[in-house]
Amino acid sequence: MAEWDAHVYDTSLKFVSDYGKELIDLLKPQKGESILDLGCGTGDLTAEIASKGAKVIGLDQSATMLEKAKVKYSHLQFVNADAANFNLPEKVDAVFSNAALHWITDQYSVLKSVFASLKTNGRLVAELGAKGNVEKIVDSIQTVIKQGGYEQVQLSEIFYFPSPAEYATLLEKIGFRVEFMQLFERPTMIMDVPQGFIDWIKVFGILLFQNVPLNERPKLIQKAAELMAQKLEKDERYFADYIRLRVVARKLS
Ligand code: BEZ
Repeated sequence: MAEWDAHVYDTSLKFVSDYGKELIDLLKPQKGESILDLGCGTGDLTAEIASKGAKVIGLDQSATMLEKAKVKYSHLQFVNADAANFNLPEKVDAVFSNAALHWITDQYSVLKSVFASLKTNGRLVAELGAKGNVEKIVDSIQTVIKQGGYEQVQLSEIFYFPSPAEYATLLEKIGFRVEFMQLFERPTMIMDVPQGFIDWIKVFGILLFQNVPLNERPKLIQKAAELMAQKLEKDERYFADYIRLRVVARKLS
């Protein structure tokens, strides 16, 4: 996992938590419920859920992101742990996860941990990138890496973007009942291009540059951002090609 730039995440890439607020509507947090925010980042959605009266714990693997979360929301509880292998002191009523699960290629392990952390009748409410997510963004990066003469890292080594059928099958295998699943395109406006695409790459796409020497990266990142601008422009605005998968799944016993 890359180390995150919490400042860029909270400014240029703030759309991540802004869009996540819609997912809280699907979660419908109730007063007094215990909820885990899995992959909480800098804690904006953790705080939003807490504001509805739920008892929330934010969990993230990035110490940098959690440092910022603790400064912004010192009244909330945050834990530094691996989403694919965590244990909570007490089981929770719901696990909420926005734009985090697709970072874990071992999805079976993370869903097993989620299942184990839920009370009977507890629910998982999540949104992640679906099959085809950010295809043009990744194509742009892979193109400049190849042109630079470096070996490409495969998307599946870094991200997990399932189809609805694949994800439902995995959830059912673990024991969840899938109550809701929705796939939809969400073109996501990127401001201040090409800098906005450069920020996107530095925070979200840098692992694709693993085989590029550090001193070569700025040049290739700039080129990839320019290519993205060409591929993703519409009426002089720029939209990342996001495809989302939303799910509500219940642990029956
Ligand atoms: C997403 O939210 O879809 C996403 C974020 C970072 C990298 C790839 C995809």
